[in-house]
Amino acid sequence: MIKRTAMYPGTFDPITNGHQDLVRRAASIFDRLVVAIAANPNKAPMFSLQQRVDMASRVLEDVKNVEVIGYEGLTVEFARVKGLSVIVRGLRAVSDFEFEFQLANMSRHLSPDIESVFMTPQEQYTFISSTLVREIAVLGGNVSEFVHPIVETELKRHRQV
Ligand SMILES: Nc1ncnc2c1ncn2[C@@H]1O[C@H](COP(=O)(O)OP(=O)(O)OP(=O)(O)O)[C@@H](O)[C@H]1O
Ligand SMILES: [Mg+2]
Repeated sequence: MIKRTAMYPGTFDPITNGHQDLVRRAASIFDRLVVAIAANPNKAPMFSLQQRVDMASRVLEDVKNVEVIGYEGLTVEFARVKGLSVIVRGLRAVSDFEFEFQLANMSRHLSPDIESVFMTPQEQYTFISSTLVREIAVLGGNVSEFVHPIVETELKRHRQV
């Protein structure tokens, strides 16, 4: 039995049903899961860090052992400060592997105590990314199959402003 707190870092711009699937799986095998939302200004996110944290918190409200926290700077530094020794990441397809493998090795190089673990979503979520969801929403498409209704509302609101 694994007894530990893990972190699931990402940009979550916005949180999708794929992220949500992964969070629920990870929350079922770890004692506690911190969904760590990176400010990531270099990615020029559509939603502010506060908005991304608010959306994820509301969407994951029912998962009792999950906490959503925003952070700036290096993921391994955030992990060190919070005492988190496991990083959960998602693999949708082989195309994710190369970047995730590189990132995991860099994390280990910077912080040898941190382990990265990889999980796969249920098949129906494998093609969902925040980037595609944002693109569809900006062009007025229907994203209700890919995100929580709370997020759908926020995407519509964003389109209007
Ligand atoms: N549909 C999904 N199923 C499983 N894992 C996912 C899914 N979407 C994202 N992830 C994983 O979640 C982590 C954080 O991802 P991130 O916040 O970059 O989301 P993203 O959908 O890839 O967004 P973007 O398109 O902006 O890069 C990464 O490990 C990523 O592989
Ligand atoms: Mg990504």
